[in-house]
Amino acid sequence: MGVETWVLLATVALLAWAYSKWRHSYWASKGVPSLPATPFLGHTMKSLFTSREPWKLQEETRDKFDDTRMCGFYEFFKPVLLVWDTEILKHVFVKDFDHFTDRRHFDMKTDYERDLVMMEMLSVINGPQWKSLRAIMSPAFTSGKIKSMFDLVCNKADILVDISMKQATQNPHVDMKKNFGRFTIDTIASCAFGIESNSLLDENAEFPKKAQVFFELPPLRMIKFLAIGLVPSLFKTFRLSINPPEVDFFADVVKHTVAAREAGETRGDFLDLLLEARDNSDNPNGKHVLSQRSLVAQSVLFIIAGYETTATLLDFASFLLAKHKDQQQRLRDEMRQLVKEHGCITYQGIMEAKLLEACLQETLRLYPPIATTERYCTKAYKLPGTDLTIMPGEILQMPIWSLHHDPRHWPDPESFIPDRFLPENRGNINSFAHMPFGMGPRNCLAMRFALMEAKVALAKLLLEAELSLAPGHEEVTLDAQGGLIRSKGLNIKLKKIVEE
Ligand code: HEM
Repeated sequence: MGVETWVLLATVALLAWAYSKWRHSYWASKGVPSLPATPFLGHTMKSLFTSREPWKLQEETRDKFDDTRMCGFYEFFKPVLLVWDTEILKHVFVKDFDHFTDRRHFDMKTDYERDLVMMEMLSVINGPQWKSLRAIMSPAFTSGKIKSMFDLVCNKADILVDISMKQATQNPHVDMKKNFGRFTIDTIASCAFGIESNSLLDENAEFPKKAQVFFELPPLRMIKFLAIGLVPSLFKTFRLSINPPEVDFFADVVKHTVAAREAGETRGDFLDLLLEARDNSDNPNGKHVLSQRSLVAQSVLFIIAGYETTATLLDFASFLLAKHKDQQQRLRDEMRQLVKEHGCITYQGIMEAKLLEACLQETLRLYPPIATTERYCTKAYKLPGTDLTIMPGEILQMPIWSLHHDPRHWPDPESFIPDRFLPENRGNINSFAHMPFGMGPRNCLAMRFALMEAKVALAKLLLEAELSLAPGHEEVTLDAQGGLIRSKGLNIKLKKIVEE
């Protein structure tokens, strides 16, 4: 190579480096602190590298930039702001929600049906389309609907307890993580679609195996996710698909179930609600939002969303109660009192049980299944109490994990203290420091259903068995693959309770 070529290459490299430096000076120019950014990549590698432990990055930035209560990041060149000021969060999530109705936009160009299905899910779509669809789907989780699902949930919880107790007679300890996962998938399949997925009864059932794939993020998929952000058209050009073939499995199950419903069967469940909205041309929210693909998308979303998060909650709750035997006994006493008053576990009894609610909320505080949520700015917005204006297209992230572990909001934050959530102490809680289900109009659609389901399972289990820690499972090892926080696997010892 001649000298001119070297000079040219060096000039191009220098200009590229200067460009990267300039793009990565965005937050500094706005007075927002930031961790040192890697040229071109920004903090992408750091958040990728720590994506298995997102809480560490959240806590590192909280401790470093506590004065400003926010910190800027770059995903390649895209500015992202992590905010842990609860006053600001109140505005972003609720008061000024009209500036932040969206989640991150994926402008992926694809021909793959399974990618198109995933792009139509309620959790992914944005703008007026999201608003209409949310209005259609919300009635699936009114108090009346949740109450009508109670018997189905009880039935699945009874099977969960039976199977677990049987396993306890054959093994020194039981893989409750696996059992809870099978319980939640059977429950959502039954409650939302009237499908018997038989995961608890059949060791080789397909549903849990296929659902599990969505929560694994092998390196190739991670790279594909990053590539979408950088060059969305890449996928169409090279005919790449980002989503696993398991989407097709669930889509087919839904299509078959829809066909049966179209032949006249009705159950008054979630699927009927969607079919009604699809077919009702008078419904202003219907037709244009709910195409056949969208209907399949929402159904697949329910199966995925209904599976892992609630199982994780039960997994951590049983671990914490096995570790804190005094709390376990208190809770069992509350359940026994409930049975004494109502004759059995009833919907009303479960919903009124104060310690049960407190134990689950404290579990969700210590181990939120989802560590971060985010909002996408659609209209320029000046953050209250600051001079900072967030521009359309910028992303705000909320560090659920570090808010839940912040000593300013939670005295003795690493201890399991359910009493924090008893009604008489609730007034001491800053509600924007506890958001396991997110907040505001775009919070978790099925929060009340998930809590009811977890309450029923835990109540039934505690009435039947004493939970203890299994050898080698005295501490929890966290795993954050696929964006969720889970345990790496927790076995529990179950000892049948014999009433005197
Ligand atoms: C313990 C269990 C669960 C936890 C901790 C949880 C947590 C969350 C969180 C943090 C969000 C984001 C909220 C936000 O950005 O403000 C969310 C959204 C969502 N969740 Fe859940 N979830 C749980 C169970 C479920 C279940 C059982 C279903 C469905 C059957 C479900 C369906 C959804 C849907 C559809 C959304 C998107 C809502 C939207 O964008 O409008 N979740 N969930």
